[in-house]
Amino acid sequence: MVWEAAIGGSAVDAPAASAAVVAAEGVEMTYPGAASGAPATPVLRGVDLAVAAGECVALTGPSGGGKTTLLNLLGGMDRPTRGRVLLAGQDTARLDDAALTRLRRRAVGFVFQFFHLLPALTAMENIALPLELAGELSAADIAARSRQALALVGMEEYADRYPGRLSGGQRQRVALARALAPRPQLILADEPTGNLDRQSAQQVMALLRDLSRAQGAAVVLATHSAEAAVFASRVLPLRDGRLAAATAPPQDAAGTP
Ligand SMILES: Nc1ncnc2c1ncn2[C@@H]1O[C@H](COP(=O)(O)OP(=O)(O)OP(=O)(O)O)[C@@H](O)[C@H]1O
Ligand SMILES: [Mg+2]
Repeated sequence: MVWEAAIGGSAVDAPAASAAVVAAEGVEMTYPGAASGAPATPVLRGVDLAVAAGECVALTGPSGGGKTTLLNLLGGMDRPTRGRVLLAGQDTARLDDAALTRLRRRAVGFVFQFFHLLPALTAMENIALPLELAGELSAADIAARSRQALALVGMEEYADRYPGRLSGGQRQRVALARALAPRPQLILADEPTGNLDRQSAQQVMALLRDLSRAQGAAVVLATHSAEAAVFASRVLPLRDGRLAAATAPPQDAAGTP
């Protein structure tokens, strides 16, 4: 595979720490209780986090701990019950829905836990869609970008396949390519290696790490995999609605585990 070579390799130094691409300040999240008036339990109870360009942060912690909830808040898919989320310097609470959607399209690439590929579109068309919605590139450039993103994840042979005829791991890689193609400042990835074999998982993690380093993207991913977390520059366990102090990854993330 040539994924690393295709984006310039991992020899590029991380850019100097700059203003956070995304920040959470005292973020609390409580989903509304059941219609019966059952008490609503808070999922996030005060999360503070700042992620700079060039960083790759792994959120870990138990199932139901709030990892997906936090990713949704960081990416402006949802708004916190209390506290602030600053995305590309903008307070998401101050933006109306249309402005928040525009900001999200411009700044965020989201790899969903359950992919959310559109079944009626081919792999290539799924990847091209966000670029078309952004309306900034010519059709030729969109096609070139989409092909390049497919190549990055080793899926160029499957450009014309529909998601229903791809394996879970192949869908995951198409979903990753769709998130990368617009070259967003922030990449949010929910269990990006959950459906992959060990080797593919390591390739996807190396790709995310190198995107943060070489392209200066900020990457935040949720994972249950200790092996995946090794690639992150910071590992943050989410427990009881709060982020525990950062733990260093178990070994130098630059080395090939
Ligand atoms: N839309 C929603 N409405 C109500 N409750 C929700 C909603 N989404 C998530 N929850 C609840 O919030 C809690 C955290 O869920 P979340 O999906 O963020 O956990 P997670 O850490 O991503 O778990 P997993 O590792 O299983 O993906 C869970 O108790 C879940 O039931
Ligand atoms: Mg989740």
